[in-house]
Amino acid sequence: MRKPIVGGNWKMNRGTPNETVEMLESLIPQVEGIDSVDIVIATPFTVLTSAYKVLKNTDIKLGAQNMYYKDKGAYTGEISPQFLKEIGVEFVILGHSERRDIFKESDALINKKLKKALSMNLKTIVCIGEHLEERETGKAKDIIQYQINETFKDLSKEEMIKTVIAYEPIWAIGTGKTATPEQAEEIHMFIRDLLSLKFDKETADSIRIQYGGSIKPDNAEDLFNKNNIDGGLVGGASLQANSFFQIIEAADKSIR
Ligand code: PGA
Repeated sequence: MRKPIVGGNWKMNRGTPNETVEMLESLIPQVEGIDSVDIVIATPFTVLTSAYKVLKNTDIKLGAQNMYYKDKGAYTGEISPQFLKEIGVEFVILGHSERRDIFKESDALINKKLKKALSMNLKTIVCIGEHLEERETGKAKDIIQYQINETFKDLSKEEMIKTVIAYEPIWAIGTGKTATPEQAEEIHMFIRDLLSLKFDKETADSIRIQYGGSIKPDNAEDLFNKNNIDGGLVGGASLQANSFFQIIEAADKSIR
């Protein structure tokens, strides 16, 4: 039985300490008592400490949206996994499509970051997903297979089990155009089959695969009810406590 995981990816959208604290203080009482879902909030770096102060005595886990793969040094503008750990960060999102597309992060770089994060006991959410034209030309599965092979290159079974995968079709991110539960489930099953071939069935069955891309309170339940969808990575709808809570509730219901 895989525990669903719902992550809120605030991107560069909510960045003052006050609004961070306000949103989290409103979310905390709502999710109290939900222990069947792992909840992660990934804020911008600058408000991680404000978020940590509010979250530290709760079950909500703090996440960062990126990191570099070195401990320290002359890497202007980058953030070390060591720094993240020191301020109470437990999770890090790696390989988001915005990092891949806008900041030209390669699968090889994401693989280095992933290995580094794992070596430091940071939990990871690794994003993969195809562009619209790749889907329309029938290449979605080839792209997913390539990303899995390259991003998870040389990972041991134990490392892979600790990694959460977020399948995020890029055409569905921030567009309001969600993949249908059937479209998402088809790719989630494909990912699990690939993991089964790469590792073994038991390993594949224990890895959590989130869906991401325009998840909203009104479509979350149908997505999470699919057998291979283990929660979601939520952008826009994670910015408000109420909508994020409703999505968490949908994940909670999906396992009952
Ligand atoms: P969205 O973003 O929910 O706003 O589509 C999801 C994501 O990018 O993780």
